[in-house]
Amino acid sequence: MTTVDPLKALKNFPEGFVWGVATSSFQIEGAAAEDGKGPSIWDTFCRVPGAIADASNGNSACDHYRLWESDLDLIEYLGVDAYRFSVSWPRVRPSGSGAWNEKGLRFYENLVDGLIKRGIKPYLTLNHWDLPDALQQQGGWAHRDTVHHFVEYAQGVMARLGDRVTAVTTHNEPWVMATLGHESGIFAPGIQSRATALQVAHHLLLSHGLALQALRADGVRSKLGIVLNLSPMFPASAAPEDIEKTRYEDGRLLRWYVDPLFRGAYPSDVLARLGEDVPAVAAGDMEAIKTPMDFLGVNYYSRSVISASGSWDTKTGGLDVTDMGWEIYPEGLTELLVRLHSEYKLPPVYITENGAAFKDQVEDGRVHDKQRTDYIARHISAMVEAVKLGVPMAGYMVWSLLDNFEWACGYEKRFGIIHVDYQTQTRTLKDSALWYRGFLHQLKHDKAKAGTVHQVPMIKPQPELMGS
Ligand code: FCB
Repeated sequence: MTTVDPLKALKNFPEGFVWGVATSSFQIEGAAAEDGKGPSIWDTFCRVPGAIADASNGNSACDHYRLWESDLDLIEYLGVDAYRFSVSWPRVRPSGSGAWNEKGLRFYENLVDGLIKRGIKPYLTLNHWDLPDALQQQGGWAHRDTVHHFVEYAQGVMARLGDRVTAVTTHNEPWVMATLGHESGIFAPGIQSRATALQVAHHLLLSHGLALQALRADGVRSKLGIVLNLSPMFPASAAPEDIEKTRYEDGRLLRWYVDPLFRGAYPSDVLARLGEDVPAVAAGDMEAIKTPMDFLGVNYYSRSVISASGSWDTKTGGLDVTDMGWEIYPEGLTELLVRLHSEYKLPPVYITENGAAFKDQVEDGRVHDKQRTDYIARHISAMVEAVKLGVPMAGYMVWSLLDNFEWACGYEKRFGIIHVDYQTQTRTLKDSALWYRGFLHQLKHDKAKAGTVHQVPMIKPQPELMGS
């Protein structure tokens, strides 16, 4: 395993840079049908035979709905500045439109107040995939009405919380919802149609832009943005068909979202390849999508290597991979951020998710997840490189606070820096959590020493905190 080189102290690290941890509602809350919550498309999808690797569901998950206060204590113990979480739409508005559920709203209100009481900034995501199933019955994201239901939902949540939430993300990873949910169908709602996926992507983007406009008109002062999952793409070979396929996939993953958000147009090379699958776009839609954002969130895990003949298998390349089979490629984060900065006029950028799944073992109350610590430290270093190269970085958040329900992989993949025993709901801080805590502590200590000059200390695992 590569050891991280100590970084030289970096002068002028962005003022107010935010360090955090992230989760999402369906993956941790449990209480799937309690206190008036309606079913989401993921509750329904989990019942499809074979859809989830371990045939599990979100009924209990991390039981965070009940354990939220002690989970907030853990977040406070880590010493982070921010917590990124999501609101479950069917918990606060069970049918997606119509009546609101006061108990659901109160849960998030308590959560936000609990964060603020502990000095942690709330970063709220409105849509981390758990669409109310009632809306799916009416066509879901493929139907234009859902756009307007989403805007109303955003306004309702923010009417309640907008005075206390630091930042609001409209959607988490629209590519995943569109492509994995509606084209490959491996995620909820399990549809397989490229045309539908592209229409869904358009509606997600449109609802993002319209929600921003509506929230600003309502006087909401939270920072507003979107979170995209992005990764640099490389052709598997110099063959023209591999290069062409790579350009198409890059168009579908990155440019299909970033171009409309910053330039108000879909990429013409992708449109030219879509034939009849080109989505319906109404007059004014592209203008709405281009509504200026206060921040862009980027989730980064790996790079992609594309071959025209099928998918390229990282494992056969003998590469360093995580338990997801995703190649560990931190330099891709620097490359991606530098590319975005050179091609688009970016607002402040957050890494809203970065982390890794490994096969963890609890031994004598400890989890020695050196690989995860190394992964995180290397990616922070890669992000610092991007800062040096002028990318306007504003924050970094680890995925994830807790081991949790990893979508189609169920509970088999553990991404947490805190281990969860799903039988007893016991939480155990892994060594990576202790390392992150030590890192943040040192950072603040150095900052206090250096006065107004912000420095990033040496980024490497600290043995005294690793118990080795
Ligand atoms: C991202 C999701 C997040 C989690 C990580 C591993 O795509 O946003 O919920 O599943 O991947």
